[in-house]
Amino acid sequence: MAKIRLTLWILVGLALLGVAALQIMRPGKPESLNLTNANENNQRYSAPFELTAHTGQRFSSDSLDGRFRLMYFGYSFCPDVCPIDLAKITAALKTLESDGIDTDLIQPIFVSIDPERDTPEAMADYVNLFHPRLLGLTGSLEEVDALAKRFGVYYKKIPQSDGSDYLMDHLVVIFLMDQKGNYVRLFTNRDSADSIASALKPLLTTGR
Ligand code: NI
Repeated sequence: MAKIRLTLWILVGLALLGVAALQIMRPGKPESLNLTNANENNQRYSAPFELTAHTGQRFSSDSLDGRFRLMYFGYSFCPDVCPIDLAKITAALKTLESDGIDTDLIQPIFVSIDPERDTPEAMADYVNLFHPRLLGLTGSLEEVDALAKRFGVYYKKIPQSDGSDYLMDHLVVIFLMDQKGNYVRLFTNRDSADSIASALKPLLTTGR
């Protein structure tokens, strides 16, 4: 575990320093999400859901009302992409905060698609590595699967031939939802932390 944690920290550090450079090295992932359909502001995204937070308490999406959501599906055992993307979300929010902008109106959320290993305790340890307000959500296989399907998030368990722990292949996009949970846009591996910060800034600085 110590080795895994060290590796994570190194990855987080690298990502914070050079997210843009790392994007080039990122392995290709299937993008099964239908991007043309992702533009719909419909029930698919905004319908309420319940999961279990990294605190161990049950979580209702109703508690997000009034806040924008940055939502990412992945798993805490992910060796490469998840830590980079979560570090990117963290870096985007920190960039805004260092400019004196209050980011409380944006809730960053990490939803596990590997709930068998991602217990609330595992999620709590993991989200601690990133933004202090990052919310980890996990649940039963059925709960997680239902939410991932609704968002069009592909994921698949990949057994390792050497018998070691499995990996999860999964869609890697960051969803931005409005204060009612309606879909706004996606960020992909082509978006840097700075470009995400630029996209979020108007949400936090206009009409307040
Ligand atoms: Ni991952």
